[in-house]
Amino acid sequence: MNIAIIGTGYVGLVSGTCFAELGNDVICVDNNKEKIASLNKGVVPIYEPGLEELIRKNRRKNRLRFTSCIKEAVEKTKIIFIAVGTPPKLDGGADLRYIEQVSRDVARYMNNYKVVVEKSTVPVETNKWVKYIMRLNNHKIDFDVASNPEFLKEGSAISDFMNPDRVVLGVESERAKKLLLKLYKPLKAPIVVTNIQSAEIIKHASNSFLATKISFINSVANICEKVGADIEKVAEGMGLDKRIGSSFLNAGVGYGGSCFPKDVQAFVRIAERLGCRIDILKEVEKINKQQRKLIFSKIEKALWIINGKNIGVLGIAFKPNTDDIRSAPAIDIIKMLQGEGAKIRAYDPKAMEHAKKILPNVDFCKNSYDAARGADALVIMTEWDSFKKIDFAKMKKIMRHPIIIDARNMLDPKKMKKMGFNYTSVGRPGHEIL
Ligand code: NAD
Ligand code: UGA
Repeated sequence: MNIAIIGTGYVGLVSGTCFAELGNDVICVDNNKEKIASLNKGVVPIYEPGLEELIRKNRRKNRLRFTSCIKEAVEKTKIIFIAVGTPPKLDGGADLRYIEQVSRDVARYMNNYKVVVEKSTVPVETNKWVKYIMRLNNHKIDFDVASNPEFLKEGSAISDFMNPDRVVLGVESERAKKLLLKLYKPLKAPIVVTNIQSAEIIKHASNSFLATKISFINSVANICEKVGADIEKVAEGMGLDKRIGSSFLNAGVGYGGSCFPKDVQAFVRIAERLGCRIDILKEVEKINKQQRKLIFSKIEKALWIINGKNIGVLGIAFKPNTDDIRSAPAIDIIKMLQGEGAKIRAYDPKAMEHAKKILPNVDFCKNSYDAARGADALVIMTEWDSFKKIDFAKMKKIMRHPIIIDARNMLDPKKMKKMGFNYTSVGRPGHEIL
């Protein structure tokens, strides 16, 4: 099938590449000309495990192309996915200007029937506006709008796309339904077919529910900490109940990334605009912000005075296996520490190039040991696998004081104490740093 993907970011690039891998002819479009030039030279602008190889393979087979010419892409394809960003506005609502722009451009260049599919995460009823704008700009050519929200996670995006728990298709015509069912058939995944509004809500509700699990477990972790209970055992004991499930019950510094923070907010705003309330999500957001403050206060408790201290930070990405630093907890913590006058040395295996652009006063280091050199304390902000393999005996010798604040519960508290570290984490016994 001939497919266009408009917006070649984390979602567009992964989806386009995977559709090509499934045997389709895919044109990925982006209005960022530098990005397209780089992709055409074989340089992949994001870090996502396995993506570079898959792009190379599908370009070689001539199934995957990159262009900044939306006209050509629209004319040559039948199914057009919109995968542009939907960032938050100041009031928390989704900024849909890029969706509008693409809807207008697609309408303008349509030369025959098209299915225009929202893959970006959008508030419910966005499809009505997409249709309205398209009709305003082209009242001659027949088209359908559909919703196909994306559920991939950064860091495991390819396998999430290729082996999804489910595919959701919001459609309102048999023609669009047939085309999309055919496109997704090779994945052999459960497919939920529904109307477009329901598909839009499924996406916001799913992300909000996962964010709720995280805030819930963080609240429980704080109770555990007061009484010497262990949040890991509590989460295990809860998660074995199939109705609860064990995933997304890892306590820590709270969620970050380009999606949960913005989607939770956007879901609250759209509910309010519709005259409804989903106040539980306001509490989820509040708890998530408090977790950052909790980690900061743990650092403060470990150091007493932060001013003038050297603090090593391991991990900047909002989670492991990605270079994405959008709404990364590490950025907030670093800024809070700098605000108190701390000097920061930081290391991340993949995210430092992005971080350098927004954290000018941080010393970025060549490895974990370098970040810990002379440190009064070390803060673990992202649980990269490579950090789990650190020789902490060596680390202890390099640091000025053996103090570790583990914001991701990455290390074993008993082992760390045994090695002589003053160690604290979230919701686990033995957290008392003094
Ligand atoms: P991104 O910022 O990485 O990519 C968006 C791309 O769209 C950019 O490259 C930008 O240049 C391009 N773009 C903007 N306007 C354009 C236009 N008019 N024409 C052509 N290209 C244009 O964003 P992302 O992380 O890929 O997210 C895209 C959408 O998918 C968002 O709604 C997001 O919530 C959703 N989503 C993201 C993820 C994820 O893991 N990142 C997962 C599921 C859903
Ligand atoms: C999330 C969802 O998991 C995807 O299904 C969805 O498609 C995507 O958002 C989106 O809509 O963009 P992603 O943000 O890539 O994916 O990463 P997650 O693995 O969900 O992690 C999000 C944040 O929650 C990270 O900061 C992570 O560290 C944190 N987290 C996750 C926890 O603190 N505890 C957990 O148990 C799980």
